[in-house]
Amino acid sequence: MKPLVASFFEPVTMTFSHIVYDAPGGEAAIVDPVLDYDPRSGRTCTLSAQKLVDFIHAQRLSVTWLLETHAHADHLSAAPWLQATVGGRIAIGAHIREVQAVFGRLFNLRADFATDGRPFDQLFNDGDTFRIGALEAEVLHVPGHTPADVAYRVGDAVFVGDTLFMPDVGSARCDFPGGDAATLYRSARRLLALPDETRLFMCHDYPPAGRGPVCETTVGASRSANLHLRDDIDEARFVALRHARDRTLPPPALMLPSVQVNIRAGHLPPPEDNGQRYLKIPLNLL
Ligand SMILES: [Fe+2]
Repeated sequence: MKPLVASFFEPVTMTFSHIVYDAPGGEAAIVDPVLDYDPRSGRTCTLSAQKLVDFIHAQRLSVTWLLETHAHADHLSAAPWLQATVGGRIAIGAHIREVQAVFGRLFNLRADFATDGRPFDQLFNDGDTFRIGALEAEVLHVPGHTPADVAYRVGDAVFVGDTLFMPDVGSARCDFPGGDAATLYRSARRLLALPDETRLFMCHDYPPAGRGPVCETTVGASRSANLHLRDDIDEARFVALRHARDRTLPPPALMLPSVQVNIRAGHLPPPEDNGQRYLKIPLNLL
């Protein structure tokens, strides 16, 4: 089973969103859609998400699922806007409840915020399967970057989220709350146990000088050449190099805006009594 995949690059946060579908005129899932956000003005816009809608319309697709690989810390999710525009159920890994609990405390979210997985429409456990038209999809729980990361396998294509990156980039950071390098190593090994020809679709690319952004590699290419996760790198070596690298990384520019929106499945915080919505910034905490 070889699903069709269309990928869309959002250059501000270096994020790939994907549309995976069975055939023109058939059913589709949208993976990790981006809501544009300008931190200087506090304005959101749907320019990037509109490109997904244009493709959905051009291919006459009906959208069954809006799939999040995790609560992203670098961009806001456009899933609710897409749901209102083209339909589909918003899904994420069931461990999102832990992430909601941690960040619910950090942002001091109270009466208006549940930590039971709402308002996601569907929480997936490891091994769950679901359909996208003629395609069967499987959920793989791949924690490490966050406790709740999942990858989605659809036929020979896997949407890996923030686990491994292109071979010359390596792997995702593991220093967010609940992240753990040894856990990420084991999750990546699980993905790399799939057949060599399996197509791996990235959530991000941070290309080194000399090449443009690329969203697709294979298990075989990753096992032979991934900077952090090729076959000859064991868990201890991975953990050491991941820790060394994470110590040099600043927080993502949109981390605080992103997380408080994405733990709400991409919904903006509810309006205050003047009708205005606000984001919160915890001072001197992180
Ligand atoms: Fe991420």
